Amino acid sequence: MKLVRPDTDPVRDKFAQARKELSSALIEREDEVDLVLTALVANEHILLVGPPGCGKSLLLDSVLSWTGGSKFSILLTKFTTVEEVMGPVSLAALKADKYLRVTTGKLPEADYAFVDEVMKASSAILNTLLKILNERVYDAGDGVARRVPLKLCLGASNEWASPDTGKELAALSDRFLLRKAVSPIRSQAGRQRLLWTRDHAPKLSTTVTPAEVEQARRQALALPWSDEAKDALEVILKELAREGIQPGDRRQFKTVGAVRAFAYLCGSDEVLPEHLEVAQHCLWDAPEEQPQKAAQVIARIANPVGMRVTQLLLEVEQVLAAADVRNLADAAKAAAKLAEIDRQLSTLKGNGRVETARAYLKDQLRRLKLASIEAV
Ligand SMILES: Nc1ncnc2c1ncn2[C@@H]1O[C@H](COP(=O)(O)OP(=O)(O)OP(=O)(O)O)[C@@H](O)[C@H]1O
Ligand SMILES: [Mg+2]
Repeated sequence: MKLVRPDTDPVRDKFAQARKELSSALIEREDEVDLVLTALVANEHILLVGPPGCGKSLLLDSVLSWTGGSKFSILLTKFTTVEEVMGPVSLAALKADKYLRVTTGKLPEADYAFVDEVMKASSAILNTLLKILNERVYDAGDGVARRVPLKLCLGASNEWASPDTGKELAALSDRFLLRKAVSPIRSQAGRQRLLWTRDHAPKLSTTVTPAEVEQARRQALALPWSDEAKDALEVILKELAREGIQPGDRRQFKTVGAVRAFAYLCGSDEVLPEHLEVAQHCLWDAPEEQPQKAAQVIARIANPVGMRVTQLLLEVEQVLAAADVRNLADAAKAAAKLAEIDRQLSTLKGNGRVETARAYLKDQLRRLKLASIEAV
């Protein structure tokens, strides 16, 4: 991958720095960090769905604390009123026989929004929310649809929309180009960090202004797609269609921009097949089996480094979970398997994840050896 030298591009350098700082503070959230920053660069909305307490709010709040501009955060319940999201009705206007909302400090005036429990939105909120998210316009009551400054809506939820939850929620879910299920921490080392670190909040050494985000967006938009990446995307779409996964035209088109944004984040000056990794979070409709299928198809065709690193790290956890350190032969076998995984990691390049994964693996190998020596 061709790298842009950080000193030639301070804004991209800021993104790289934030990516590193967020990923190192949050445990096993590298993919989610990449996705939120990609959403920010692409000016697309992102939805994270996962069980309570898996770090969704911590990540989304941290990213919002990094960005300047006006922000709006809300936790929706079925009792949340339209006033709380869009602003109260103006009494002065009512006196003049007019109906107008005062939107100061509310969603219609926000550059960045975090809507927690977004799937709990009542019908009244949903309709306006859909319009704001999709068309980025809002009518405060005077019949004039004004453009809202909203660049990015971060949505979080404990559950996906399903056929049972109705069409409106399915439509809402479709407004988020990037959607990802967040899993609880998987590795033993990750669990130890969770338990014994007093504060998990990332410390970010920079901030980014809306103008800088806009600069990043423009630069990302200008990145050319390599022929290989173009071919790979077309093959992926064909393969997905064969599997019965046919995301709509808007989703397909917007994916092109999201992949550009991810390539920008990775420091590349062109879109390569490996940047299609991020498309696994765009190119599906139903949340049950399609995300896994999309991931498999993309991994097979584009072979992205990040997805291979994730896969190899999963193998590391399986090896560690199965190893009995009191049995020397067993421990030696596990160590050999880990060494083989490290060899495979050493053949991968770029993406910024390989080095972290190798350092982790080295540490686990050392612990495994120590534990088996102690057990003798
Ligand atoms: N992956 C993680 N990395 C670091 N800290 C974590 C992680 N997962 C959970 N935590 C810890 O748990 C706390 C709760 O996480 P958070 O509030 O972000 O969860 P959530 O996914 O938003 O939950 P909910 O669905 O209930 O809103 C965090 O503040 C942090 O201390
Ligand atoms: Mg939360």
